[in-house]
Amino acid sequence: MLHRQSASPRVVLVQDPAAAARLVVDEIADLCARCRAEGRAPVLGLSTGRTPVAIYGELIRRVREGGLDLGHAVAFNLDEYEGLSSSDPRSFAAWMERVLFDPLEWPRSRRHIPDGTVRPADQGAQCAAYEAAIRAAGGIDLQLLGIGRNGHIGFNEPGSDLHSRTRCVELDRSTREDAAADFFPEDPPRRAITMGIATICEARRVRLLAFGAHKRAAIQRALSGPLGEDCPASFLALHPDARFLLDGAAHGPGAQS
Ligand code: GLP
Repeated sequence: MLHRQSASPRVVLVQDPAAAARLVVDEIADLCARCRAEGRAPVLGLSTGRTPVAIYGELIRRVREGGLDLGHAVAFNLDEYEGLSSSDPRSFAAWMERVLFDPLEWPRSRRHIPDGTVRPADQGAQCAAYEAAIRAAGGIDLQLLGIGRNGHIGFNEPGSDLHSRTRCVELDRSTREDAAADFFPEDPPRRAITMGIATICEARRVRLLAFGAHKRAAIQRALSGPLGEDCPASFLALHPDARFLLDGAAHGPGAQS
């Protein structure tokens, strides 16, 4: 039986995605300043989807205005579709380039994302190398997360083990339905490579964001149900520094920001 830590995850109610972005980027700026003082590189765990778009816009704005130096930051993305190369505009690698890396001229040597084109026989080695690269960078300081309607984090679908590591997974029907518009008229991929729950939970801070009523059931399950594989986000209750930044619609009735 797994028990919740009494104080986590902490819920932070926000007015909208822009307000959440300002809070998260304030935290990233503090982290970067602290790392600079310590003489080490900040390590960020990044996610894709509609949810983090405002964060990446705010990061770009602050860097351009001179209020944030991401010069030494190292990035590890959560996941990638199997079978898509970084030159495919539907890949998460291409999405990250468009939305964050190109605008900031983020050097390739300091960004990491699983390669969707690795042959199945070599995926185990790629996944082990991804874990090793995170460790070699000193571990992830701050991991950004969204949440799927089914409670997934990264592509850790229901059924994912608390001790799971970076690996190849089958995508759920609801996940493929949500991705369908991005792939139409083709079918969305059936498989992906994702950091595991244990990989995510080793990050020193985890910030999960969710906006809109379509996320409410997953959020309520993650925050108030028992910890279990049917809702991978529920495992974040075991993390000592996990926060959920939610708008009123995702949080549910009674929410005040
Ligand atoms: C995908 C990604 C997740 C993301 C989720 C929600 O499944 N693998 O990392 O959190 O979608 O996406 P959105 O933010 O668009 O709702």
